[in-house]
Order: sequence, then C-alpha cells, then structure tokens
Amino acid sequence: MEAGTGTEAAPRKAPRRGERLEVEIDSLAFGGRGVARADGFVLFVAGGLPGDRVLAEVTKGKKRFAEARTIDLLRPGADRTPDRCIHGGEPCPGAPWQGLPYERQLAEKQAQVEDSLRRIGGLDGFEMEPIVPAVEEWRYRNKLEYSFGEGAVGTADEGVALGFHARGRWDLIVDVDDCKLASEAGNAARNGVREWARLEDVPAYDARARRGVLRNLVVREGRRTGQIQTRLVTTASRLPRPPVDLHTTIEGDSGGTDGPTGALGEERLHEKLCGLDFEMSHGAFFQTNTEMAERLYAVATEFAGLTGRERVFDLFCGIGTIGLSMAGAAGEVWGLEIVPEAIADAERNARRNKIENARFVAANARTGVRPLIEEAGKPDVVVVDPPRAGLSQKIVRRLIECEAQKIVYVSCNPTTLAPNASQLEEAGYKLRRVRPVDMFPQTPHIECVALLERHTSPTPPG
Ligand SMILES: C[S@@+](CC[C@H](N)C(=O)[O-])C[C@H]1O[C@@H](n2cnc3c(N)ncnc32)[C@H](O)[C@@H]1O
Repeated sequence: MEAGTGTEAAPRKAPRRGERLEVEIDSLAFGGRGVARADGFVLFVAGGLPGDRVLAEVTKGKKRFAEARTIDLLRPGADRTPDRCIHGGEPCPGAPWQGLPYERQLAEKQAQVEDSLRRIGGLDGFEMEPIVPAVEEWRYRNKLEYSFGEGAVGTADEGVALGFHARGRWDLIVDVDDCKLASEAGNAARNGVREWARLEDVPAYDARARRGVLRNLVVREGRRTGQIQTRLVTTASRLPRPPVDLHTTIEGDSGGTDGPTGALGEERLHEKLCGLDFEMSHGAFFQTNTEMAERLYAVATEFAGLTGRERVFDLFCGIGTIGLSMAGAAGEVWGLEIVPEAIADAERNARRNKIENARFVAANARTGVRPLIEEAGKPDVVVVDPPRAGLSQKIVRRLIECEAQKIVYVSCNPTTLAPNASQLEEAGYKLRRVRPVDMFPQTPHIECVALLERHTSPTPPG
C-alpha cells in the first residue's frame, strides 16, 4: 500500500496487529520513531528514518493511528548514513538513530525541545539556545546492560549468548561482540563473562520454561579511572566462581536486576567529574555519558549564576554530583534523594573531596522538601533533576513553597519539562532560557537545562 496516496474512496479499515504495509517515512515523532501516513492513518514506525521506504509490520492498531516496526528497509532515505553498530545482521537496538547524520540528530533534538515547550507547555518568550553537541558520537556509554540467552543467533558460536534482545523478540538474544556505544574495555569485559559461561557450561535463564541460571550482566565503567565493574544477575547463588565484581541473585520469575547483591571484587565504582572524585554504589544513579555529564553540569552551574553566598537545594541529587560540583561557588548546598545508598555515597563524596558546605538527606521529594526547608531555611536556588516522568503536581507545589529566586531544571524529557515549566509560570516564575545537551548520540533521547526565575510572589496553584 502506498503511503498517503488516498486513492481509495472509502477510508480503509484500521490496520490490524500483524498486518504488513509498504510505507514511506516522512518525519520523526517524539521518542524517535518514523512517521508515515497510510490512507488516513498515521503509522509510528520503529526503525524507520525520514525518506526511507520500508515494509512495516503493525504491532499495535488504534482507531486513528498504529504502531509498527520495520521488517525490511526497501529503499533507504537519501540522507541515511550506513549503520556502524550491527549485531547478528541487525542494527544495534541501543542506537536507533545511527542512520541519521549527526548534524540532523542535533537539529531534530533542538526542534523537539522547542516544540514541546511551545506546544505542550504553551510557553513563549524564552531564549532557546543551541544544543551542545556530544564530545564523542560513539563509545560514550559508561553503563550497558546485557541479557543472556541460549543459542548465539547470527554467529557460528554455540552455547550461551550474551547481548541484546532481537528486534521485537523478548525470547531471542543476539550475541554482541563489539557494541560501538561501549568502550573497547567494556566490550572485552562482557566477552570475558560470556567465555566463562560457555567454558563452565552455565545455562542461560529461559523465562518461558522457567529454568536456567544466567539472566543479565551490567557493565559499568569509570571513564577517567579506567575501572570496570561487572555485575552478574542470576537465579542461583551457587555457581562456578564468575569473573565479576558483584553478583546479584534474583530467585523466581521477577524481571529487573534488583536483588540481594554480594561483592566478589570492588564494591563501588570510582569516577572523576568536574575536578572531583566520586564513588558510587551499584544501585545509585549516575549519568551514562561521563564526558557530557560534565558539560551538562557546567550549563546548570552557569544558569544558577552563583555568587558564593547562595543556599542551593539539589533535589533528586543521586550521589551528589550536581550539588558538589556547585558547592565551591555557593554558600551552602543541601542534596535530597530517595535512594539511601546514593545519599551515603553523596556524604562520602563530600568528605572525600573535603567539601564542608554540603549536606545530604535521604527522602522522597514529595514529603522531604518541607522538613528540609525547616532544617535549612528557604533556598535561593533550587536545582531539580527528576526522572523521565518529571515532577508530580505535589512536588511542583513543594518546589513553589521553596520561594527560590531561581529554579534550574535539568530534564531528560522535554514533554514533562513543558507542563512543569508551565505550572511554575502560573505560580510566578518565568522560563528564561533553555539549552539542550546531547548526552545520547545515535538515540532519540534528549537532555536539556532550563532556567526559571521568580518575578512575583509565588502562589501555589489550586
Ligand atoms: C535523573 S537522576 C539524577 C541524579 C543526579 N542529579 C545526577 O545527575 O546524577 C534522578 C534521581 O532522582 C531520584 N529520585 C526518583 N524519584 C525521587 C523522589 N520521589 N524523591 C527524591 N529522589 C527521587 C532517583 O533515585 C535518581 O537518583
């Protein structure tokens, strides 16, 4: 079927799951999928880039639109660049935009941030600053998570496979030998664990049959310390000693990688950032692109415009990286974070760097901000760096109660930044400037920093 020909008089029936359509991709949707039109229906096609003609299979059919995945790239778009990261003949699932020239990726991200703020947030009158490009377009990830499976698809190897899920398959793992998002050392660490599993004949966990042992491998890297940390997730605690630093056991059928973890090597990973030394527990969040985290924090510090006297709240502080990198320019810093291990790391990080004007609290931002204000007093500047879901209404109200002069919002999702910024504008803040930072080349993920300044006495909504 032709995309958007509209040759049929009556509108066609909504595409059904499993149906295959030949379509042309004309743009990119937020989240990174290609957009195609087929007789009045909008199709969001995973694996399709602008200009591509693809055979797409519908994975979910709705009344006015359908989701689909690329089965075959029939004719690549004129701008497509050859894929560099390929596993078992398929493009790397971690690099869905690798076919887009890097300049085009940057332009798309810049446009998507501006579009979200204007259309979703109804915001205007702010300075949309040019995106900060990535230092490295490849091999920038300091953390990758792999899955085990049986039978190495796409290679001549036999035995356990260790890599990523095959496109659209939860039960098939494609072996990875060189992922070009990871460093050479990170790839070698993963391949070493696979060799061990094959040599010792340890079976992969089979979710369908509910038997087997090996589930996941998480490889984390200190880019500036050269340290590699490997964490093996298995269903059984008794194994031929694996060549890893941490061993997590998850019994039963639950997904994820959280469970009791024992140390076999170094328990914490060490990294250098913004001239400071950091260490992190395996359960604590750390930005996955070390070099660009430094750029991101530099933008946050610039937007905060500190003079050395301010009280700064660093909400959603993780292991304290943003607050500690600002501490030298601030009067005092208070970090708040929900994961207690991350707060213990943040406290250790302050001590290790001899920073005496930073304190950290383990609490939920929903309930912890009021007690923090009682203890510390109201802040001059609040930095927020929430997960993709953004700030809940309740957290926005707590943020408004802080009555800070400036809010520096570090966002990994402009579609949740937009409504949050709009709520803050209703309460007397003004969105002044926004600068995207490309933390994730070859992917549609977008990071940006926004500065909001208070211009009237804030009034909590509702
Ligand atoms: C995007 S990370 C940012 C961490 C840190 N600012 C950094 O740059 O490394 C978000 C952090 O928010 C924490 N978090 C999630 N929900 C929270 C909540 N309700 N209250 C406090 N912290 C929360 C997560 O554990 C995570 O460490």
